[in-house]
Amino acid sequence: MLIRSKKSSEISESSTTPESIYLQRREILKGLGIAASGLILPGAAQAGILDYFSSKEEEVVADRRRKLSATLNPAYQPDWQLTPESKVLTHNNFYEFGTGKADPVKNARNFNTEPWHIVIDGEVDKPFKLSMEELFKLFPLEDRIYRLRCVEAWSMNIPWVGIRLADLIKRAQPNSNAKYVAFETLHDPKQMPGQSSRHIGGGIPYPYVEGLRIDEAMNDLTMLSVGLYGKTLAPQNGAPIRLVVPWKYGFKSIKSIVKIRLTSQQPPNTWNITNAREYGFYANVNPEVDHPRWSQGSERFIGEGGILSVSREKTKMFNGYADEVASLYSGMDLRKNI
Ligand code: MTE
Repeated sequence: MLIRSKKSSEISESSTTPESIYLQRREILKGLGIAASGLILPGAAQAGILDYFSSKEEEVVADRRRKLSATLNPAYQPDWQLTPESKVLTHNNFYEFGTGKADPVKNARNFNTEPWHIVIDGEVDKPFKLSMEELFKLFPLEDRIYRLRCVEAWSMNIPWVGIRLADLIKRAQPNSNAKYVAFETLHDPKQMPGQSSRHIGGGIPYPYVEGLRIDEAMNDLTMLSVGLYGKTLAPQNGAPIRLVVPWKYGFKSIKSIVKIRLTSQQPPNTWNITNAREYGFYANVNPEVDHPRWSQGSERFIGEGGILSVSREKTKMFNGYADEVASLYSGMDLRKNI
């Protein structure tokens, strides 16, 4: 039986949604001893995608995603209302494919992610390079539901599929100089039009880079995601592999990663290079520290229904994950270290 501990990150919205049916089915499967999320995609959720994607071409985009087998991690199965899959797939920030929320799903539809390799090097004893196929063989996948909170004050609840970043890092055997972890997105202006056009890509420096402190990277919550809703990632969500750091603003969750480097110095991060007054290195979700241009005290939760039914909710410290991560920042002034 699934034992669930109520965490501070849990919210209590109605769960009578197609996505909650998805969850119930996963629990039934789990009860039957079938520890896999990718075996079914419930008709309701699937119909939702097909309703949304009206043209044939867009259906092909949805079809490119492969079903994945993953084990439910019972520690991260809160009883939340999920953001419908159709919205997770169509309301995106991925400036390499345009700055509008609806741009990535259109402009990334032909993004070729095969073959794909990821390199782990820097302050490690055993640097390595892996294909996605090798990564799937080496690391068992798990399902975890996390809240994603964008710095723009909207949020989604998403069932991710992925691995613990810590497991990948440990395999490279970090040495004693490894204090930070730097990440880099693919640089391929031919495929990513925003990287060669200020007009499309918003004029931020490319490739997109991000970083974490080593203890943040090794935290159990920090995931490398390869899928969502039981299938591989769509290009617009950062295929084939992206970071998910649920207690930090979404811009830390860098997409389409090709390099992970362990470093002794704090690495640069794209939004901090672009505008250091507004975006820091830490970017911890914090309702008490407003963005210079808007409040971070509340957020628009993107759930079921149309734009008018978006609910406004209070933002939680560390996005609701304080029990798991507050100790990482004890003694730090979170007003200065934004
Ligand atoms: N990664 C890259 N390479 N480029 C981006 O523009 N946007 C970030 C993050 N990762 C971004 C990125 C921001 S601002 C957010 S909120 C999340 O991706 C959005 O993830 P989603 O589109 O899957 O919801």
